[in-house]
Amino acid sequence: MIYQVYVRSFLDSTGDGIGDLAGVRAGLPYLKKLGVDGIWLSPFYPSPQHDHGYDVADYCDVDPLFGDLDEFDRLVGAARRLGIKVLLDIVPNHCSSEHPWFREALAAPAGSPARARFHFADGRGPDGAEPPNNWHAMFGGPAWSRVTEPDGTPGQWYLHMFTPEQPDWNWREPEVAAEFDRVLRFWLDRGVDGFRIDVAAGLYKHPELPDSDDPEADARTRDSVNPLAWNQPEVHDVWRRWRSICEEYTERDGLDRLLVGEVSVPTAREHARYVRPDELHQAFFFDLLSASWDADAFRKVISEAMQDIAGTGSTVTWVLNNHDQVRTVTRYGEPATEGSGLGAARARAAALLMLALPGAAYIYQGEELGLPEVVDLPDDVLTDPIFRRTGSRARIRDGCRVPLPWSGQASPFGFTPGTESAKPWLPQPEYFAEYATDRALADTRSFWHLYRDGLQLRSQLPQLGEGTLRWLDAPPGVLAFERGDDLVCAVNFGTAPTPAPVSGTPLLASGPCPPGVLSGSTAAWWIRS
Ligand code: NOJ
Repeated sequence: MIYQVYVRSFLDSTGDGIGDLAGVRAGLPYLKKLGVDGIWLSPFYPSPQHDHGYDVADYCDVDPLFGDLDEFDRLVGAARRLGIKVLLDIVPNHCSSEHPWFREALAAPAGSPARARFHFADGRGPDGAEPPNNWHAMFGGPAWSRVTEPDGTPGQWYLHMFTPEQPDWNWREPEVAAEFDRVLRFWLDRGVDGFRIDVAAGLYKHPELPDSDDPEADARTRDSVNPLAWNQPEVHDVWRRWRSICEEYTERDGLDRLLVGEVSVPTAREHARYVRPDELHQAFFFDLLSASWDADAFRKVISEAMQDIAGTGSTVTWVLNNHDQVRTVTRYGEPATEGSGLGAARARAAALLMLALPGAAYIYQGEELGLPEVVDLPDDVLTDPIFRRTGSRARIRDGCRVPLPWSGQASPFGFTPGTESAKPWLPQPEYFAEYATDRALADTRSFWHLYRDGLQLRSQLPQLGEGTLRWLDAPPGVLAFERGDDLVCAVNFGTAPTPAPVSGTPLLASGPCPPGVLSGSTAAWWIRS
């Protein structure tokens, strides 16, 4: 189980209102208590922060906002002493327009080797005033921006599948692959245990960059669906190459390394290609996250994953929340600002379901506190580029990124040192008081205890380890499956109680469950006697 640390919102050690690496180090004992195996750190590299670090200006350093390399080394050392693995977030599809190679490309003439590292092309139309093709960017608007040439004339265009500040690398240029080998080695040499790979179905584009039949599909679905821009066959060579680098390190010191890809592809079968034995170890299977709260929908995605991914000998990697998605408590509930309702009960049940599935599980900071999405942030504090680039229509990703509450009754809730005048980079609502970690730890009915207990059992019970699952008969609206010979997990997606599939008291339940009963919006685990 890996815990995603969104560094700028985890814990601030300096008082500037932005979380940092020293804050992560201070939070490690909390994470150890929760029972995490490893952490994934969101990007902390030097960056102008147009997309909160997913616009990297230097892949081998730490942005002063978050600390420095010495602090990074201290964090890795402290994690290692606690037995917590550290994964970094690496962004190989694009960089920042401030990256020295992109600046060099801007200063170089059309057709130069410096431009070949990116996708520069002449525009269409009489004076090249139209973009080279009709693709739209994922975050809205055209996927091309025009540059002014060094002599001041309007010039070529460059491709950016996200914002204009995130030019896409041209992976057909061997120097790019070699540079990323160097970056991987730089961090592996500093002791990291692996990488979460951003946009891992990206990197290569169709070699001719032709027009698309449905150019706005990515922006409309907010998914990587343009078949010319994503999931090109050549990308698998990169994962083989990265896998062999990891294995070289493992051969040297005997320690496992992990590559987990953010892979958005149309089917579980396509997905399985990314986790073949010589490619990525894991790839997020987002279909569970996308499923609505419905027994049939959940059963379908779990069955597909078991058949098409686990069935080929790979690990399925489950995820319910991350820094790009509305939090489960809100997603599964009414638009609530408090976590005491249906959404919270369902989010707890979903957590127990996920922790009972064979494979890897990732949880996103605050998920273990049952934090709801902050839905009422005022427009002027929103920083997500999607909001800007959709003409303020899509308020998507700020509400799950609000800094964590640690203690106390008022903002900053211990997130940032000092007094109440210290301002977290996104405002925390008053109701965050009831989710603060100190309260969660003190209340055995909290989300935190459910996650902690679930994780503990997951590491103790061999039934919850490797292996498969067997569906059991269950009434409509209920899912029940068995792990190993005797562990049963059942989830009641309805609101009315139903008979439990196993008599006796559950080992663990996401809500009150009298013996013999599976309450509404509840999941439970039993050992069959
Ligand atoms: C996926 C990341 O999770 C998201 O936050 C980012 O904006 C895009 N990739 C672009 O790097």
